[in-house]
Amino acid sequence: MEPSMAIGVPGVTLSSCDLTMPVIGMGTSSSPPVAPETTKAAIVEAIKAGYRHFDTAFAYRTEQPLGEAIAEALRLGLIKSRDELFITSKLWSSFAEKDLIVPSIRMSLRNLQLDYIDLYLIHWPLKLSQEVRQMPVIREHIFPLDIKSVWEGMEECKNLGLTKAIGVSNFSCKKLEELLSTAKIPPAVNQVEMNPLWQQKKLREFCKVRGIHVSAFSPLGANNTKWGDNRILECDVLEEIAKAKGKTTAQISLRWLYEQGVSSIAKSFNNERMKQNLDIFDWSLTEEESNKISQLPQRKGITFESILGPHDLVLELDAESLDDC
Ligand SMILES: NC(=O)c1ccc[n+]([C@@H]2O[C@H](COP(=O)([O-])OP(=O)(O)OC[C@H]3O[C@@H](n4cnc5c(N)ncnc54)[C@H](OP(=O)(O)O)[C@@H]3O)[C@@H](O)[C@H]2O)c1
Repeated sequence: MEPSMAIGVPGVTLSSCDLTMPVIGMGTSSSPPVAPETTKAAIVEAIKAGYRHFDTAFAYRTEQPLGEAIAEALRLGLIKSRDELFITSKLWSSFAEKDLIVPSIRMSLRNLQLDYIDLYLIHWPLKLSQEVRQMPVIREHIFPLDIKSVWEGMEECKNLGLTKAIGVSNFSCKKLEELLSTAKIPPAVNQVEMNPLWQQKKLREFCKVRGIHVSAFSPLGANNTKWGDNRILECDVLEEIAKAKGKTTAQISLRWLYEQGVSSIAKSFNNERMKQNLDIFDWSLTEEESNKISQLPQRKGITFESILGPHDLVLELDAESLDDC
């Protein structure tokens, strides 16, 4: 880890591009969804608090408020240049077709009012029909992802300078293996669910050997969302460690992730909690505390089945991820 542009937040250098990503990013997806003005205001507050890394996606409908917040931060002089920020967005599954990928990132750039993003990820390892409007979906609307041709489209986005780095999200070792067998530019990042109760040991080892940085979403267990619960924030072992150190369970989880060499995308639109989530860099876990966390029983939070329905392709994806823990 090395210093990054975010105030007091270390950065990680991504492979196959000369790019440093702050190890704590602010998530922009809220559940239930909130008004765009609320998202914009929270992002401006996050920039004031020192966040320089933001995670959005076409599917979250937060690209526009993020773009407006960036413009506002520039107007207010909170940042001098857009280059001080690290912005991630994601290719939605309904556009996961080679010819639709460059138009998709251009659409995201228009939403964000930006000329480039820092990182563009394939959001899910499957393709959905463009008719999909709500979840769960019918089987006829789900297709396997043509990894080779979709990745060629992602490589084109990087070659055109529309994004500095490309990567994937929710990819298993099996899917990464397939991608790496034809990729000209290897993925810089795999963004996956990870926290002390879903540690992804096998996937992390696989990615480490191949120079793919792992980024954790739902690092706090996604409390209060429809895909998460309080299993991290109210975990006995984390509570005990937090109490002994005068920290919160959220901070223990984020610190543990940082010590694993993983970056975290944590969402808080509350001023105190967003500050708390950045305050993890001037203390550490003891070996005994780390060992206790590494022995926690494992349980995945999000499954594709719970979002899309119990279809064969979807169950296959879930089985691959369960195999990676
Ligand atoms: N690639 C993918 O498929 C994928 C999937 C899911 C999420 N993501 C990304 O990852 C981001 C974060 O994941 P997530 O939203 O699922 O879960 P999360 O960050 O683990 O949890 C967010 C929830 O925790 C609360 N919270 C935040 N900090 C807290 C603290 N210090 N103490 C107590 N509660 C706290 C938040 O409420 P308040 O806002 O009220 O603080 C919110 O309800 C998303 O916003 C999105 O950008 C990506």
